[in-house]
Amino acid sequence: MQRIDESMKIAVVGATGLVGSTMLKVLEERGFGSCNVMAAASERSIGKEVAFAGRKLKVMSVDEAIAQHPHYAIFSAGASVSRQYAPRFAEVGTTVIDNSSAWRKDADKPLVVPEINIDAVRPNDRIIANPNCSTIQMVLAISQLHRRYGIHRIVVSTYQSVTGTGMKAIRQLEAEEQGLPVEKAYPYPIHRNLFPHGGDWLEDGYTTEEQKLVDETRKILRDPDIMISATVARIPVVGGHSESVNVEFKEEYDINEVKQLIANTEGCILYDDPSTNTYPMPITAHHRDEVFVGRVRRDPSQPKALNMWVVADNIRKGAATNAVQILQRLVKQR
Ligand code: A2P
Repeated sequence: MQRIDESMKIAVVGATGLVGSTMLKVLEERGFGSCNVMAAASERSIGKEVAFAGRKLKVMSVDEAIAQHPHYAIFSAGASVSRQYAPRFAEVGTTVIDNSSAWRKDADKPLVVPEINIDAVRPNDRIIANPNCSTIQMVLAISQLHRRYGIHRIVVSTYQSVTGTGMKAIRQLEAEEQGLPVEKAYPYPIHRNLFPHGGDWLEDGYTTEEQKLVDETRKILRDPDIMISATVARIPVVGGHSESVNVEFKEEYDINEVKQLIANTEGCILYDDPSTNTYPMPITAHHRDEVFVGRVRRDPSQPKALNMWVVADNIRKGAATNAVQILQRLVKQR
């Protein structure tokens, strides 16, 4: 196990952003407060300060961070920044954990939810991809069920928080709530509205965010045959993403065993009691690292299918926490 002290150098690329600043918070919470942490962002932010573990870090350029040969670099600065800089970190021996979509589909780059497939990381891997937020919470909720019954098909509809779009989207929602003018992150008002649209359009009428749920789920669960149909919606919420997930198994299942498997899944909380109106909501998951699962019930229209409702803080387990958890496992292994 590597020593977690001032000798360990960790760069956070995109440290001034919504996910990057949460990465700094989660690093501190998870015992990396004594490490030599470098905050990198765009040229616009150089010289600014960000808070970390009771001290102030001066924001540096990505080139400057590479020159310091950190042991690890955690990225959340968008796919083009990752494509440009992750290989340069890798060349100097840094292991990169990347939150963008740049490398997720590469066959030779592991795509990791640590509770499920940390074993996909080989000792010499230098770029590890962090999955999309909506994928992480869904695959964690169904991972043990897939192992036990085999999943044949998933139909998922998401209800995604504006935090997934970044700071500009939060500012749009807040300004619209107060009736103030604002530079828009979305083409439509988000306050008192929703749109069935996340990401860019594909030729088949789906979106990139919907396609990520398909491709990434298959890769993480190591099953290219799972059939998945996804609809992504953006809603005026900040605490986390919610998902209605219909799962059809290959085999008959026992509903009580399903609940037990979810409750026993590391990182998942079964939050499900209709008699007390107990079900997860964005306010349940906000600022939490776990994935919450409720409304688990048989699908009466299909004997091998069930429905569930899955909620997680998309900035934490959907992004920053998952990346830092990968780091924690690598530090133990290396
Ligand atoms: P900056 O604040 O200097 O623009 P968010 O998704 O919340 O908007 O955050 C994006 C993060 O990615 C920010 O930290 C942003 O830095 C950073 N970033 C954007 N473009 C670059 C770039 N070309 N090089 C490095 N960091 C970048």
